[in-house]
Amino acid sequence: MVRASRTIPRTRTVGAELAPPCDRERRARGRASSAPTVAAVIASLGLAFCAAPRAQERTVADGVYTDAQASRGAAAYDASCAGCHRPDLSGNTGPALKQQRFARVYAGKDLKTLFTKIATTMPRNAPASLSDDVNLDIVAHVLKENGFKAGTEELTVAALDAIRVVPGQPKAPPPVGDFSYVEVVGCLTRGAQGAWTLTRASAPVVATPTSASAEAAARPLGTETLHLVDAMAYAPDGHSGHKMYARGLLIKLSEETRLTISALDMLSPTCER
Ligand code: HEC
Repeated sequence: MVRASRTIPRTRTVGAELAPPCDRERRARGRASSAPTVAAVIASLGLAFCAAPRAQERTVADGVYTDAQASRGAAAYDASCAGCHRPDLSGNTGPALKQQRFARVYAGKDLKTLFTKIATTMPRNAPASLSDDVNLDIVAHVLKENGFKAGTEELTVAALDAIRVVPGQPKAPPPVGDFSYVEVVGCLTRGAQGAWTLTRASAPVVATPTSASAEAAARPLGTETLHLVDAMAYAPDGHSGHKMYARGLLIKLSEETRLTISALDMLSPTCER
């Protein structure tokens, strides 16, 4: 089936704010053609001036949406897209909408290409069923998930074809602080008076609800020492000297770093790397 190309109505006016001065110049030129005088010269200068901002290319890295827009988009995405593209955009029955795939398909093109793809063919089970405003919000969410920062103005349909897509940056991991819920790998080591520590532990990273020890098995050891709180509840004796995965709350004291354990799994019966 060949779909006729759809004109996208301007539903918002923010982007149109740039238009009036240029329109005025064009009208001036219209009048000038009947009386080719100084006005014509001024008008042609004006036209050159109007054309200048177009040459200056904006990219998706220039803060082209707002945080509020992206959070509306996140809700719309969860409702209409996540089922096929996954909540974290990593792809399921539909392809991933971030990282390498996103870069390969969209980098170098204008943002309208992505918008039009979504607006005319998605959600795949109900194409073109969402409004332009909702689709703009979803584009903002997709940009945010690809590591592009928000700006102060909402993305508009009018702005789309002047914004170029560049490859995304991985989202910065949330900072690890006191009371962060983290995961680490390390060597389970018996200390004095029944205390247990993880020695040569990796730097703790924020754990997500889906974090699992299976994915941590390949993670290298590090140089941290973590004092385990309540290790006895996990029958540590049989695992002394093993490479372990631990998840829990990080407690940073001036003299030591502690971890209250909520999961402790063996990764390897040795602890070499
Ligand atoms: C019923 C499953 C389904 C739903 C729901 C769905 N998609 Fe898709 N999507 C797909 C499939 C399958 C493809 C690949 C085929 C194609 O490009 O049409 C795809 C392709 C895409 C692409 C092109 C990506 C690429 O790299 O080629 C984008 C962008 C996209 N979807 C965005 C969305 C958005 C945004 C929503 C929600 C508004 C959505 N999709 C909802 C199944 C779905």
